[in-house]
Amino acid sequence: TTNPIPPLELTIAIVKPHAVAQPFIVKDIADVLIQEGFITVRSKRIQLTKDEASEFYRDHFGRFFYQRAVELMSSGPLVVNLIAGHDAIRHWRTLMGPTKVFRSRLTHPDSLRAKFGLTDTRNAVHGSDSIASTARECKFFFPDFQMDAWYSRMEPLCR
Ligand code: TYD
Repeated sequence: TTNPIPPLELTIAIVKPHAVAQPFIVKDIADVLIQEGFITVRSKRIQLTKDEASEFYRDHFGRFFYQRAVELMSSGPLVVNLIAGHDAIRHWRTLMGPTKVFRSRLTHPDSLRAKFGLTDTRNAVHGSDSIASTARECKFFFPDFQMDAWYSRMEPLCR
């Protein structure tokens, strides 16, 4: 027999500081997560130091936007959610919309970045872009979370 429940996937969904500063945005995004059927596994509000933000964006070191992305990510508290859902990485990134705000407004007007993004850097939300980056970001924000154990516990439910 096959279970109709598709396998769950974890991803990291972050509300960036300029958006956290507007309480209605945090609430709207929490509502979107519920409406879209995500399970929130962990959630926390955290302020990164500049060094921590540099580490978070280390893959972008040397790019023209690196400094400003690091400045933004350490400019105020973040709301960091570890969420689970079917195809969660792609699903959340679809809800976010394209990185650049002009493009999100033009082609994905209902996306979170189109609605809440101000500039390419202050684009309101972050989502892990792969299974590997989810694992890295999960360890970064929730070092006590046992991802492998979580998948093992969930796996029988998804068979
Ligand atoms: P990137 O990983 O390319 O985008 P995404 O967040 O959609 O995965 O870039 C990381 C962040 O760096 C992006 O969310 C905002 C900032 N950034 C800029 O400020 N300008 C840019 O042109 C790009 C590509 C990114």
